Amino acid sequence: PARINSKGWDLTHQPTLDTIDKARAPLQNASFTAGPLTSLEPKYPRRRQESSFPVINPAQPDDIVGQVTPATPDDVADALAGAAIWTADYTTRAAVLRKAADALEKDADTLFALLAREAGKTLPDAVAELREAVDFLRYYATQATADMQARGLWTCISPWNFPLAIFLGQVSAALAAGNAVIAKPAEQTPLLAFRAVQILHDAGVPVAALQLLPGGGDVGAALTADARINGVAFTGSTATALKIRASMATHCAPGTPLIAETGGLNAMIVDSTALPEHAVRDIVNGAFRSAGQRCSALRCLYVQSDIADKLMTMLKGAMDELTVGDPWHLSTDLGPVIDAAAHETIAEHIAQARSDGRILHQISAPATGHFIAPTVIRVQGIAQMTREIFGPVLHVATFEARDLDRVIDDINAMGYGLTFGLHTRIDDRVQTVVERIEAGNIYVNRDQIGAVVGSQPFGGEGLSGTGPKAGGPHYLPRFVAPEPAQTSG
Ligand code: NAD
Ligand code: ALA
Repeated sequence: PARINSKGWDLTHQPTLDTIDKARAPLQNASFTAGPLTSLEPKYPRRRQESSFPVINPAQPDDIVGQVTPATPDDVADALAGAAIWTADYTTRAAVLRKAADALEKDADTLFALLAREAGKTLPDAVAELREAVDFLRYYATQATADMQARGLWTCISPWNFPLAIFLGQVSAALAAGNAVIAKPAEQTPLLAFRAVQILHDAGVPVAALQLLPGGGDVGAALTADARINGVAFTGSTATALKIRASMATHCAPGTPLIAETGGLNAMIVDSTALPEHAVRDIVNGAFRSAGQRCSALRCLYVQSDIADKLMTMLKGAMDELTVGDPWHLSTDLGPVIDAAAHETIAEHIAQARSDGRILHQISAPATGHFIAPTVIRVQGIAQMTREIFGPVLHVATFEARDLDRVIDDINAMGYGLTFGLHTRIDDRVQTVVERIEAGNIYVNRDQIGAVVGSQPFGGEGLSGTGPKAGGPHYLPRFVAPEPAQTSG
């Protein structure tokens, strides 16, 4: 019988994890390349060839996934000079984005292989990521309308932790509105971005409307410091967003929009009425899935002291069941962190907690590759956390029922506002906590990761982002030129 999902798509022939695993097997040793894709002919092709770098599998440092040639200042100049808005009418733009979505689905085996080898994604995470990327393309395609006027040229700068979904989410919204885009993917994941852009070009997006400049922060900085830029869509750390805002204030026209989706210090409160099995499942998922490398991930858990011992015993038991290892294997629950620098930062944080005697639990992880053993650290409260630790590290504090208001104040006082979770079976408490917590996405009696495009628009407030939420109705209109002000008399 046909299997139709809630969006009306026929899933009857959707492959299982097992068939996916067989299909990507030949790609385990394949080699890929990436480099600038600009509409003008490159000026210095020979120099380019000499300056390519290996892209390393974070799980297996001896696995070279491919080679990337980063953009030079000449490439940046070429892309800025060669950009042209997409003048096709809105029905054509929508049709091309849908065609690209179909092509991405057809390319699933290669994309799954790249997500595992370049980005360290487990197969379930890779499947979820491709689905989100495809959802973004189809969702923004439905929002293209006849009366839209493009703002002009957008710089889209994305992080490595959703190298396909966030990369394509930004790009497809800008393109649906007819803009020109220069996309700058994270330096850690250029191969996925290159393949995605090739798919969009093959589907019919003109090269002048979508150019790709792989590279690091220097390339991103150059693309936020030019008066020809009419908007910047950025997802990444709060620190980088602040640099971009300062650069745009100096170099871009006043009023040039910046959409910034940034980091979080996300909390969950579990009170004594929560169902412990349910809470533990959601804590493990929120803190450790994707090796904790989601902006939405749970960082600081507050457990009511009456149930803390029981919940911690169950949490330790659940963690002991996790397998940390090469994401290529189906049995792996957590892959590596993205690179040596991330590994060092997280390992230092854990080492400090160990020397303070605050490690509550830790499981094992492979010694080779950038693996971090999932760890639970005791804290007095969220105020003890001075920064986002972007890995599989959960901080736990206890609270007394009479202190719930103070806990909420402490969470809000951190200034972030991305995700928040609550486990309780008291209806009134849900209402009062949800009213008081300042966070873009609030989840009750479930985990706090995995927002779904179209039905759960995702984004933060305060230090976590400017809004509007991605995958929601207000995102694409930010890429459209505002109506000219009406003058009277
Ligand atoms: P990052 O800020 O280091 O880098 C993000 C991008 O910015 C990269 O492409 C990088 O090359 C570029 N960049 C660096 N310096 C720049 C500069 N001066 N000017 C312009 N561009 C520059 O972040 P990251 O480590 O790649 O990603 C992890 C961060 O992203 C975490 O803080 C995470 O919470 C956040 N994130 C947020 C969301 C969200 O939706 N709110 C989603 C995913 C990740
Ligand atoms: N949108 C991603 C999530 O909800 C970051 O986990």
